[in-house]
Amino acid sequence: MTALLALENVDAFYGAAHILHRLSLQVQPGERVALIGRNGVGKTTVVNTILGLAQLRKGTVRIGSATIARPRPYLAAQRGVVVVPQGRRIVANLTVEENLLLGGAVGRKGPWTVPEIYKLFPILQERAHTPGTALSGGQQQMLAVGRALMSNPSLVLLDEPTEGLAPVIVDQLADIFNRVADQGTALLLIEQNLSLVTRVAHRYLAMAKGAVVAQGAVDTSAACTQELAAHIAV
Ligand SMILES: Nc1ncnc2c1ncn2[C@@H]1O[C@H](COP(=O)(O)OP(=O)(O)OP(=O)(O)O)[C@@H](O)[C@H]1O
Ligand SMILES: [Mg+2]
Repeated sequence: MTALLALENVDAFYGAAHILHRLSLQVQPGERVALIGRNGVGKTTVVNTILGLAQLRKGTVRIGSATIARPRPYLAAQRGVVVVPQGRRIVANLTVEENLLLGGAVGRKGPWTVPEIYKLFPILQERAHTPGTALSGGQQQMLAVGRALMSNPSLVLLDEPTEGLAPVIVDQLADIFNRVADQGTALLLIEQNLSLVTRVAHRYLAMAKGAVVAQGAVDTSAACTQELAAHIAV
């Protein structure tokens, strides 16, 4: 099977700062993978390397069968890999609906349309014509997820989607992520909330110092939670 996303021995930099060191990972079609690790280990830099926002100096980034020599955000989205960025980045002077339409601009065909996103998140339909940044934090996160789905991706990278959100909203998002994955979309979930990881992911990759240092299966047992916690605790 061709992986949806494969990084092989990637070295990535911000200017002179060398952040990723021979990092390798793969996500297969339909997989639900968690990428964990404590603050500053380079999780967002993995995302930024795929988008071309950190500099890929060595190694390979493949999306499907294509090797991406110079990653760019639109190249990833066109090939079915989309990012829900850390901090959500809702466009301030666009309405909720305009933010969704922006996500669809890449023009990939598939099941996700504005009405389908509104079925997934009814609150977004109620707020369709308000500025995206007027929403609560949880609603903005729903909008960021909806906007990503509008590109009809085969893989969604979620960068700490529940950071700063109330437990009741986290529960709603866990349910949404599972529904999206049940429809066949693969997920790479960057998370520090272990309860969310165990509810959504089937496999984990743990990072330290810019590399993947451990991986394994995820289940809801206490032993698994302990194993995951060891990679997040300082
Ligand atoms: N634009 C930048 N220029 C230089 N260094 C950066 C830049 N962005 C991040 N870094 C550094 O790169 C390292 C990895 O950061 P990154 O944001 O990838 O970590 P992270 O695992 O996502 O952390 P967090 O859990 O806090 O989101 C950190 O030491 C950070 O200070
Ligand atoms: Mg980060």
